Amino acid sequence: MPNDVLTVHGGAPLRGEIKVRGAKNLVSKAMVATLLGDTPSRLYDVPRVRDVEVVRGLLELHGVRVSDDGNGAFVFDPANVGTATADEINVHAGSSRIPILFCGPLLHRLGHAFIPELGGCHIGDRPIDFHLAALRQFGAVVDKTAGGLHLTAPSGLHGTKFELPYPSVGATEQVLLTGVRAEGVTELRNAAVEPEIVDLICVLQKMGAVIKVHTDRVIEIEGVPSLRGYSHRPITDRLEAASWACAALATGGDITVRGARQVDMMTFLNVFTTVGGAFEVHDSPVDGGIRFFHPGGELRALAIETDVHPGFMTDWQQPLVVALTQARGLSIVHETVYERRLGYTDALNTMGATIQVYRDCLGGTPCRFGRRNFQHSAVIAGPSKLHAADLVIPDLRGGFSHLIAALAAEGTSHVFGVSLINRGYEDFDAKLADLGARAERG
Ligand code: EPU
Repeated sequence: MPNDVLTVHGGAPLRGEIKVRGAKNLVSKAMVATLLGDTPSRLYDVPRVRDVEVVRGLLELHGVRVSDDGNGAFVFDPANVGTATADEINVHAGSSRIPILFCGPLLHRLGHAFIPELGGCHIGDRPIDFHLAALRQFGAVVDKTAGGLHLTAPSGLHGTKFELPYPSVGATEQVLLTGVRAEGVTELRNAAVEPEIVDLICVLQKMGAVIKVHTDRVIEIEGVPSLRGYSHRPITDRLEAASWACAALATGGDITVRGARQVDMMTFLNVFTTVGGAFEVHDSPVDGGIRFFHPGGELRALAIETDVHPGFMTDWQQPLVVALTQARGLSIVHETVYERRLGYTDALNTMGATIQVYRDCLGGTPCRFGRRNFQHSAVIAGPSKLHAADLVIPDLRGGFSHLIAALAAEGTSHVFGVSLINRGYEDFDAKLADLGARAERG
């Protein structure tokens, strides 16, 4: 597809202002939650990204009437929720992982659910064992077939006590979306507490759910017999904001990200400062945001580990590594959330970076992937002069980091498969143009 290639003339700083909207990883879940309400829900600031389209398609297949004003305000009417065929669902589910979260809501609404084979980025095995174990404890019967999962709940769904082996974001959402209407109390231990999870809890609370977040990753849900629709303005996309911040740093530029929120990015901002970046927070309820810029001088190497919240997010890692190729000294990155999230560094090496990946845990704490043959630690030696190359987008975040590298490198690069970036970055072509990047399709 010739239009799926971006020709990038790099080597110039990105400067200007862009805006981020609702967080993809909250918006898509809040859309699934609309299935649980008896009345319509209203969601604002919905970004035009592929994952949102997939969830919209799946909701419509199940009878939810979806309308939008073309400017990010969506209304979801669940009055006529019904069954969709496995074939239709398979066609629509595409490359997303969100369909697994339809289990609880569909079981409550219809008494059965079909979940297709899941897609998503190839950054590790990405099993769904926690999801299925939790659903079974609620009382679901899961039948695995070649095409996907068939679920039923012959005796209804009942509150339960469940402890996650690891604070998985998706499995926590699964328990929330199922527990809110299960009969009785559900206690989830070792839950994920990412800001997107807290915002989903806010959505569910607006719907009438009773959810308590205790200390030490314990969430308690009191099931209720029915829920109403909600009206919600989501938190903004801190993953996208951090990506543009790293683009500013790697290109020696200056980018103001309207909509970025300090409170959700505190850990990122600490790292950004340590490496030599600078930022200014603009507090304003109307057009607040954060200005991220390279203040001049040399960037500094550092050692970080990715972790669950409040640690340094795994999705911030890839764009940061591009900036670290420009820092003086040896940086160490220990990826502890996904076992195969460093594959994108090969392409950076072909552009002149010096990045060595290791199977060992090169961090303070041994992680789940140590001694298991996964190349999940990286040592980055810098600064390196990056030069142009032809690149193929491997996954969403790795792909954006390739784009940043192409923008930082001298010369003309061709980035193939850029449509994948639209899974999580709204209007990135237009944003690049607003920042003065010289890049064109084809
Ligand atoms: N895990 C299991 N079993 C499970 C579920 C998870 O072993 O049943 C493991 C995973 O393999 C992984 C770890 O637990 O090693 C964490 O996975 P988690 O469930 O937290 O991730 P997720 O819910 O699938 C979401 C985001 C990811 C983000 C992670 C971590 C969405 C749609 N995706 O994934 O975002 O990296 O949480 O914060 O919300 C992205 O946006 O590009 C992206 C990949």
